[in-house]
Amino acid sequence: MRYVPVDTPKPISKIGLGTWQFGSKEWGYGPEYEQRAAQIVRRALDLGVTLFDTAEVYGFGRSERILGAALGDDRPKAVVASKVLPVLPIAPVVQQRAVASAARLGVHHIDLYQVHQANPVVGDHTTMRGMRALQDVGLVGEVGVSNYSLRRWQFAEIALGRRVLSNQVRYSLVDRGPESDLLPYAERTGRIVMAYSPLAQGFLSGRYDAANPPAGAVRRANPYFLPENLERGAALIGTLREVADAHDATPSQIALAYLLRHPNVVAIPGASSVEQMERNAAAAEIDLTDGEYDALLTAARRFQPVTGLAALPRLLRARTTR
Ligand SMILES: NC(=O)c1ccc[n+]([C@@H]2O[C@H](COP(=O)([O-])OP(=O)(O)OC[C@H]3O[C@@H](n4cnc5c(N)ncnc54)[C@H](OP(=O)(O)O)[C@@H]3O)[C@@H](O)[C@H]2O)c1
Repeated sequence: MRYVPVDTPKPISKIGLGTWQFGSKEWGYGPEYEQRAAQIVRRALDLGVTLFDTAEVYGFGRSERILGAALGDDRPKAVVASKVLPVLPIAPVVQQRAVASAARLGVHHIDLYQVHQANPVVGDHTTMRGMRALQDVGLVGEVGVSNYSLRRWQFAEIALGRRVLSNQVRYSLVDRGPESDLLPYAERTGRIVMAYSPLAQGFLSGRYDAANPPAGAVRRANPYFLPENLERGAALIGTLREVADAHDATPSQIALAYLLRHPNVVAIPGASSVEQMERNAAAAEIDLTDGEYDALLTAARRFQPVTGLAALPRLLRARTTR
C-alpha cells in the first residue's frame, strides 16, 4: 500500500474503502452482503488500507454501525471518516450529529469529520464553529468537506481558522472536473482530494454493457448505465483493457491507478466482494507510464455520454423497462 504524502496523525492510504454500500438496500446486494461487508473491512486492514469512509446518511446509520463493528479493536489503527448531512448545519446540530455518529461507530474520536455537501442557505461560519468545538474537545481530529467548490473549500478553511484537510468529490476518468482547480490547490497547500465514485460506480470495470446493465436503484439512476452510454463507452473500456493487459491488471485497477498518479489524491472505491477489495488495494502499486496516462486521457476525452436534461427521459424509460 502507498500513503498520501501529507502530514497527518495516522498515515492515510492512497486506496481507502467507501462504505455507502453497507446497509444500503439501494445498491441491491441483498441481506447476505452485511456479513461480506465485515470481511471486506477485515481484508482491507490486512492489506494496509487505513482510510474508511462512511456517512450518517448511508443506510440511515447502518453503514457506520457495520463499519465500527467490523473494525473492532483495530479502530485506533484506522482513519475513520464520517460525514454530517447538512440539512440544518448550525453549530449545535453539527455537534449533536457527531456524537451520534461516534456512538454508532463505537469510537471516542472521529479521525476525519466531513460536511457531506455545501448548504446553499446556511453559511460555513456556523457549521465550522461546531466543527471547531468538536476538535477542541477531541471528538474530531481533522475536518473535511465534500462536494465543495474550490472557493467554498477555501472559505470553509477561513471559517474554521484551521486546515480543512480534504474535499471529497466525484472524480474518475469520466468525471475529471477536479483536475482543473481542486487538484492543483491540494498539491500546492498539502490538502487532499478524496475521489468518490472512482470507478464511476462500476461503469469503468467493463463488466456491464447494454444487454447486461447493473441492478439496484443507485445505478438505475446513473446516466452512465443507459444503454446508449454503455455503447459509447466501449472505446474507453477498450483502452483500459489494453493498458491493463500490459500490467497484468484489470480495467478497474487501471482506472484507479490513473487517479492515484496525482500525489494528493486518494480514492475510496466501494466493493461488492473481498476479491474486489484486494484488487483495488493492489491498484495502489501500479505505476502508469506517461504514454499510458496520455492514452487514457485521450480516450476519456473522446467519451461523450448523454447526461443532464437529455438523459432524463431515457432514465425514466430505463426505470420502467429494467
Ligand atoms: N460524498 C459524496 O457525496 C459521495 C457520493 C458517492 C459516493 N461516496 C463515497 O464513495 C464511495 C465509492 O463511490 P461509489 O460506491 O459511488 O462508486 P465506485 O466506488 O466507483 O463503485 C463501486 C462499485 O464498483 C464495483 N467495483 C468495485 N471494485 C471493483 C473491481 N475491482 N472490479 C470490478 N468492479 C468493482 C462494485 O459494484 P459491482 O460489483 O456490483 O459492479 C462496487 O460496488 C462510496 O462507498 C461512498 O463512501 C461519496
